[in-house]
Amino acid sequence: MNTWTTAAYLVAALLFVASLAGLSKHETARAGVSFGITGMVIALLATAVAAFDSASVVGVTLLLVALAIGTAIGLWRARVVEMTGMPELIALMHSFVGLAAVLVGWNGFLEADSGHSDLTGSLLAIHHSEVAIGVFIGCVTFTGSILAYLKLSARIPSVPLTLPGKTILNLGALAAFAALTVRFVISPGAWVLTAVTVLALLLGTHLVASIGGGDMPVVVSMLNSYSGWAAAASGFLLSNNLLIITGALVGSSGAYLSYVMCKAMNRSFISVIAGGFGATSSSAATVEGVHREIHAQEVAEMLSDARSVVIAPGYGMAVAQAQYPVADLTRRLREQGVEVRFGVHPVAGRLPGHMNVLLAEAQVPYDIVLEMDEINDDFAGTDVVLVIGANDTVNPAASEDPGSPLAGMPVLRVWEARNVVVFKRSMATGYAGVQNPLFFRENSQMLFGDAKDGVQSILAAMPARVGT
Ligand code: TAP
Repeated sequence: MNTWTTAAYLVAALLFVASLAGLSKHETARAGVSFGITGMVIALLATAVAAFDSASVVGVTLLLVALAIGTAIGLWRARVVEMTGMPELIALMHSFVGLAAVLVGWNGFLEADSGHSDLTGSLLAIHHSEVAIGVFIGCVTFTGSILAYLKLSARIPSVPLTLPGKTILNLGALAAFAALTVRFVISPGAWVLTAVTVLALLLGTHLVASIGGGDMPVVVSMLNSYSGWAAAASGFLLSNNLLIITGALVGSSGAYLSYVMCKAMNRSFISVIAGGFGATSSSAATVEGVHREIHAQEVAEMLSDARSVVIAPGYGMAVAQAQYPVADLTRRLREQGVEVRFGVHPVAGRLPGHMNVLLAEAQVPYDIVLEMDEINDDFAGTDVVLVIGANDTVNPAASEDPGSPLAGMPVLRVWEARNVVVFKRSMATGYAGVQNPLFFRENSQMLFGDAKDGVQSILAAMPARVGT
């Protein structure tokens, strides 16, 4: 690798670090994305230029064609993807990283096997251990991410698979992988690597199939982490420093994000990475009751009498694209002297920060958007809570029903407010498939219909009521 390529890789690596730092705050997130894009463009150009020096004409042509096809598909997907479709797109992308690591691993083995490698002795043994580890992590990432994609896009049900002795199966697969790797290093052969490949493909499938709906956010960030380690393993095989650094950045930041999310959801980190290790099968108490319906006009009247309002947004706000009328409603109420704040649950929506992005897009001021811990004690003194398309994240069963699949997960305690209005289209359950007793509480009323239409109807009903 020449000096220019090394220098370009170093600049790209620094830009990736700056990108992660920028993404950690609302105010600097846009700059963080720009740093990431610039770093990736530099990395791609440097890799392509380096290939001109060393690869054959056919190799360079293939590289350029792959770059053109990949760029075109990437730009097209980025333009058409809905914000609500981001998690499954991300899961699908992780699967590509996993698959690439598998192909790089197999290529490393075939090269050495056909005598096209200068490595001998202990260096060859290290090379083969890198191959086995890279193929293993890549396969787990590949099938795990495909399963996550299928669950997130509701192509398969999100209920956890509970095979008898699932923990023994997972631990057995890890022990078998260790034994096969030792065998592969001592005596490399295609059948051993095939066995590692099949074993890891099955393990990835089982790990993610065992995770239930409510815990999927953590799985997505775990797979993000695995894809980073898979890329780092490829970096070692290809002797590419940038791939090692980038893979390690993605791997460690994804692992840390998973840890933070597990803490926020009161879940065991070890349990989630081990595919639901230690989780007991749960059965939620039957929820019975009568719900009360409310109409936009009455909500407008209720708001005109309120002094404090908290809005709890969820996935339905994203589906309805209701953030713009919600921002208008916020502005109108604040002009009337009403204190309006937002309570955002860490896993509301379908990806970390989903609600924050939507609210920022609609120019809701950052200082009235509060996290769950900052708002939870204030619900008891709140006049009206508007639950806009949220369900699991406001479900009291999480704290009141130990048999609920959501048990133990901290939620927004919206039911403590004087009045709660729930905006949704039906009595259907949320992502975790659990019925919500909030809908039957005495102080709750349902505003049925699309959330955007509901908020717009309230806005239309307001001028005659508020401020008169
Ligand atoms: P959910 O529990 O997913 O519920 C969303 C509700 O929105 C549904 O009950 C649905 O009811 C309603 N809805 C859908 N479209 C609507 C529309 N156009 N207008 C009005 N309402 C609409 O929402 P949540 O409270 O945000 O919880 C998120 C869930 O997703 C959690 O279980 C979380 O673990 C999971 N999850 C989160 C992530 C991340 S990282 N945030 C990633 C994957 C999974 P109707 O059908 O009756 O309208």
